[in-house]
Amino acid sequence: MHEYSYTNNVLTGEGVELRAVAQEFGTPLYVYSKQSLLDHCRHIERAFEGHPHVTYYAAKANANRRLLRLIAGEGLGADVGSRGELYLALESGFPPDRITYSGVGKRDDEIAYALQRGIHAFNVESVEELDIIDQIAARTGTRARILLRVNLDIDAGGHAYVSTSLRQNKFGIARQQVASVLRGASALPHIEVRGIHSHIGSQIIRGETFLRAAEALVAMVRELRAAGIPVHDVDFGGGFGVQYRGYVSHPLLPVEEPEEMNLSASSLIKAVLPMLRETECRIAIQPGRSIIAHAGVLLVKALYRKEMEGKVFLVVDGGMNDLIRPSLYHSYHQIVPLVVEERSHETVDVVGPLCESGDFFALDRAMPRVQRGEYLALMCAGAYGYVLSSNYNARVRAAEVLIDGSRVEVIRNRETIEQL
Ligand SMILES: Cc1ncc(COP(=O)(O)O)c(C=O)c1O
Repeated sequence: MHEYSYTNNVLTGEGVELRAVAQEFGTPLYVYSKQSLLDHCRHIERAFEGHPHVTYYAAKANANRRLLRLIAGEGLGADVGSRGELYLALESGFPPDRITYSGVGKRDDEIAYALQRGIHAFNVESVEELDIIDQIAARTGTRARILLRVNLDIDAGGHAYVSTSLRQNKFGIARQQVASVLRGASALPHIEVRGIHSHIGSQIIRGETFLRAAEALVAMVRELRAAGIPVHDVDFGGGFGVQYRGYVSHPLLPVEEPEEMNLSASSLIKAVLPMLRETECRIAIQPGRSIIAHAGVLLVKALYRKEMEGKVFLVVDGGMNDLIRPSLYHSYHQIVPLVVEERSHETVDVVGPLCESGDFFALDRAMPRVQRGEYLALMCAGAYGYVLSSNYNARVRAAEVLIDGSRVEVIRNRETIEQL
């Protein structure tokens, strides 16, 4: 699972020195460990202890084709949120009947494309969307399988932007309306109702939150069945939190206490599984982050160390256009030098080169004193990293490489300025 560690004071991925990788491919650079990715897929699959289920990898977390192919090869399905993600999932070998389509704003052409390709189901977010799917299915001579996304109104904690199941969030259908909407859906000629779906947020680190969501979902299945509405599928969503703090350690680095997580993705699944099994439904989950976050790191190079009235800024060559999570959600990424040695520590802001004060990777962070030209790694950057990158300031997007044992393979070329 943990493929990144220090060997002789040098940070390695699967035993490969990341310093050499940065020198060969340049920075900013996304690096992934194949073994870590496979281990995370297997870890989650093992948690089901042989119980029939489908794990739909949420492609939004990282949609690199090579990584998608690896995940498909592990037998997982995919949850997609756009025509582009569906295209990539199909091209990467996910069978259509192991693909679901989520999202509040599915366009008509996207719905038609998904129907034509025969995906397993749409996770439907509104009454209007149901009608549109029915109409498009009629036009294309198909029948659409659907799950209704329920807004459980559960506070998942964490940053407001990653909470998705509160009354004020745009996602899903209010609990009280679910029965009537499903009854209406069953009457639509080109809709086949499969069941219900919930996804309460992302980076959830409290087991109790998942237990509450599972309880609410199971209670809803019971109520729906009592009201004569059949439920075949329960999709429990994703959101399993991962450890960002203190992911790697070394006696010469400042100590970083891991976040207070009381459960890992697999133990969370094990905790809710007995409840979900009671429903005798086809059980599904849609994890993204917990599959790919730990497999990836972002390598950057220190450009300048700037001191201003006692405050120190460490300016690096990657910025919010490469990894926006700290700017967008105030997310924490551990930042470590690729080579550690005896030196003093200081408190710095690690900032990028873009013309935004919000362009930072860390604020007031204890770090070893870094020199110009030194390489740094932002750990656990595999999820919601590259996929959220942009060309802001006409900066080219980073390259992506995959470590596979002793081999390092480019899985996406660095953009060129001619491509801008
Ligand atoms: C519908 C849906 N499913 C799954 C996910 C994946 O969540 P996570 O990456 O936190 O596991 C998301 C992410 O927001 C989502 O919106």
